[in-house]
Amino acid sequence: KKRIWLSRHGESEFNVQDRIGGDANLSLRGRLYAGKLPSLVNEVVGDTSHLTVWTSTLRRTIETAHDLPFAKKQWKALDELDTGVCDGMTYDEIAANFLSRDEDKFNYRYRGGESYRDLVLRLEPVIMELEQLETVLIIAHQATIRCLYAYFMGLDHEQLPYARIPLHTLIELTPVAYGCKEKFYTVDI
Ligand code: G3H
Repeated sequence: KKRIWLSRHGESEFNVQDRIGGDANLSLRGRLYAGKLPSLVNEVVGDTSHLTVWTSTLRRTIETAHDLPFAKKQWKALDELDTGVCDGMTYDEIAANFLSRDEDKFNYRYRGGESYRDLVLRLEPVIMELEQLETVLIIAHQATIRCLYAYFMGLDHEQLPYARIPLHTLIELTPVAYGCKEKFYTVDI
């Protein structure tokens, strides 16, 4: 029976500093998550013989998948929302210098970057391929995981940019008649 697993990368050095964007390495806690992921995946997935792991092309997802002994594929389409001129800034710096995104977070496009609406389009080929496969584990980023999660859970444009996708958590989606059943497995670190 088809299931999909989603996870954000482990905590990165930028997460620790509350910075967005960039291509940082994992923090110590993030590396601990990466180290614990293989046994969690074995436990939760059961039969891993057809499991494929997809990551983005950014270091933090590749490092998170490093210890997983399965076929892997990197997708540029899974890279984090491009925050344009705000790349590398902290949320406080952004709040001090830019208009609030909360008016319409789905459509807010960072100058020189992307909006969640752009991201949904960018992820179309990923979703097409995902529909064909039985068992895929996707290790990506908060914004890209939100879009995939919203697609399978039927969240609308208002809900999508606020979906709670915690760090160090493996999300299992099982398609049912309408939508999906969800289960969150959080690793204590
Ligand atoms: O910019 C990338 C973040 O992971 C997305 O979070 O849209 O809530 O700021 P945010």
